[in-house]
Amino acid sequence: MSTNSSLTQLYGSEHGAASLGVLCASVAVLALSWYSIRRRLSPNGQTSPTRASRDYRDGQITITKLLIHPIKSCRGSSVQSSAFTSVGLEHDRRWVLVGLDKSEVLTARTVPKMVLVHPRVNQDSQTLDVTFPADSGCTDFSVPLNPSPDQLSAWTLLDGLNLFSIKTLDGYICESLPGHANASEELSRFLGLRVALVLKGPRRRAVDSTPTFPSLHEDTSVLFHDGYPVLLVSEESLEDVERRTWEIARAGDSDRVDAKWKNERLVMERFRPNIVVRGAGGFAEDDWEEVRIGSEGYQMDLVSKCPRCQLPQVDPATGVPDAAIPTKVLATFRKGIDPAMPHKNCFGSNGVPRASGVISVGDVVRVARMTADGSVAIR
Ligand SMILES: *[C@@H]1O[C@H](CO)[C@@H](O)[C@H](O)[C@H]1NC(C)=O
Repeated sequence: MSTNSSLTQLYGSEHGAASLGVLCASVAVLALSWYSIRRRLSPNGQTSPTRASRDYRDGQITITKLLIHPIKSCRGSSVQSSAFTSVGLEHDRRWVLVGLDKSEVLTARTVPKMVLVHPRVNQDSQTLDVTFPADSGCTDFSVPLNPSPDQLSAWTLLDGLNLFSIKTLDGYICESLPGHANASEELSRFLGLRVALVLKGPRRRAVDSTPTFPSLHEDTSVLFHDGYPVLLVSEESLEDVERRTWEIARAGDSDRVDAKWKNERLVMERFRPNIVVRGAGGFAEDDWEEVRIGSEGYQMDLVSKCPRCQLPQVDPATGVPDAAIPTKVLATFRKGIDPAMPHKNCFGSNGVPRASGVISVGDVVRVARMTADGSVAIR
């Protein structure tokens, strides 16, 4: 029995025109499904396991890691659970190091050694404890986690801080707790630059709207994040990039990737995400526009893809940059994933929480809404 006659039977049509219409419709459906299958073929012919939301089993996708980076570009910490609000995970990117010569927010793009400074949130003592590598000769110190209005009024409030093209950020120069080494002096000594440790000031910093969320700037703020409150990445996306890195290195293409990358692990910490998930397959997060997290079903919108700069080139364990990894690997297959940023290599999705609460490793992530074409955020 041909497809056409079985469809004719199914729909009970006795008329040629109607069955021709059904045939055209089924050809169109087949063409569309072929197109969507083709879209999922990677350059070397493997299908990535991305699927439409209805195909995810409940409980299939879970949070496997939560990372917070209290001082931008300094070492992050993995936590079992974290409070969050619409500006992101609690304490994430609340502090920065400011280069005092140009009032510039410093990042590891230009000061890679920053990744060796390790700030840790200490809830018991309500302090941010900052440590340096043992061989550095610098003295660890602590600053208040949530300074009181009295403390803040005694601190210097800087304005006109410059982060990328934004020149309107404010922040307080932090003073160490009594009896502790001077925060800005120790950081300056470690980096060999005149810097201050700065806590975000009171002025609201609106995010940029995106093509899929055109009024985002009205109701969404961030602190010293690059652009958006939360970065979500799946482990399988990292594994995909790692596998391609090994393949390029093993093919001996030494002008693209150093030979040591034949076996070297690519760690998630390079990419500085906040929420790491597993269970949906590589780059599944490209297709998500709204997720619900945990038993409370906390809503988080995924508003854009994350364009990657040179920061992931810095090895988080050594502070040494590598000009090829992962930039050249991402460039082979992640350029133009977000149509709003056609020349950027994207990795991970930018999230905006629409609730406040606590999320934990092990929480289930449910996909509530897919992007319009099931693949990228075009509307
Ligand atoms: C810490 O050092 C900076 C830079 O030398 C100085 O301006 C500031 O007053 C010092 N803070 C304290 C509490 O001594």
